[in-house]
Amino acid sequence: MKPKEILLLGASGQIGRNLIRKFTINNFKIKAVTRNLHAKGYLLKTQGNPGYLEIEEANIFNEIELSKLLKSADICINLIGILFEKKNNTFKNIHKNFPDVLSKLCLENKVDQLVHLSALGIDKAPDSLYAKSKLDGENLIKKNFPKAVLLRPSIVYSVDDNFTTNFMRLLNYLPVFPLYYSGQTKFCPIHVSDMTEIIFQIVKKKIYSQKIECIGPEVISFKEIMQKLLGSIKKKRLLIPTPLIIGNITANLMETFMPNPLITRDQLKLLKYDNIASGECKTNFDFEIPAKLKFDEEINKYSYMWRESGQFSKN
Ligand SMILES: NC(=O)c1ccc[n+]([C@@H]2O[C@H](COP(=O)([O-])OP(=O)(O)OC[C@H]3O[C@@H](n4cnc5c(N)ncnc54)[C@H](OP(=O)(O)O)[C@@H]3O)[C@@H](O)[C@H]2O)c1
Repeated sequence: MKPKEILLLGASGQIGRNLIRKFTINNFKIKAVTRNLHAKGYLLKTQGNPGYLEIEEANIFNEIELSKLLKSADICINLIGILFEKKNNTFKNIHKNFPDVLSKLCLENKVDQLVHLSALGIDKAPDSLYAKSKLDGENLIKKNFPKAVLLRPSIVYSVDDNFTTNFMRLLNYLPVFPLYYSGQTKFCPIHVSDMTEIIFQIVKKKIYSQKIECIGPEVISFKEIMQKLLGSIKKKRLLIPTPLIIGNITANLMETFMPNPLITRDQLKLLKYDNIASGECKTNFDFEIPAKLKFDEEINKYSYMWRESGQFSKN
């Protein structure tokens, strides 16, 4: 049987790279799209079985180019997303305008399945521009391509993430670490392997027209996450509840002077809201695609990189 072809947008990110492995070993053909073949080609090329992976450099805002890419696709998975804005790379452009165009083109090109990655808790954070843009994007997709599946993950973590790895690096060298909202915000972290299994099963079982909250097996507060990371890298640090005004000043400075700010004022707004199942929407567990991997056990598999003497260190 001819393998199904998936157009994967945002393929070079954490979830994308893991998805390429998952789908290609299961006999799907992936066309992975990147803005920069030179910078991302080496990362992408090694993720899939030869013959099952094609890499395309494209400007996703060029509708003719995008339409050409969609022509041969049976399935489209959109992983394109940003955490902070830069010049034209605005939340509105990436999370609202692009999904709007993409979903119209999917319909035009008779794509069978469209899976779009949104984010958990976006309808509970009205003051965050990130959340608002993701919600606007979801609504436009639903209108243009009602068969689409909208996935709302909590934090996705792994050795390839920008979350646990960044925090372990910071905790490694900062003697004290600030906790905004006293570190009480709750999360349901999901390991990238569990996340890719959800996407794989949605495609395999041909699930359509759903909004699914993608959550891990545990609810953990931000403070507990930091404590677990500290325990795993075997460091003792002071975790200090810090007033938000300090967070906003720090975030403002980072946004002004760092090309990739570690935290932004918009992310501080998001941090105010728990990032857990809403109870108003189905989760991956309702589709019998449970997330099984435990946060402590998984971070221990890669945290040694931030321990004093590496993998074989005794302390
Ligand atoms: N990771 C999480 O914890 C998490 C949680 C909730 C929701 N999500 C959502 O899940 C999706 C995938 O997450 P991820 O962590 O895998 O993302 P990621 O690692 O940040 O990767 C995002 C991808 O988007 C592409 N991209 C960024 N800006 C672009 C632009 N202006 N034009 C074209 N492509 C652009 C990049 O591809 P190139 O540089 O190769 O072009 C990159 O590979 C995102 O939509 C994200 O919002 C993630």
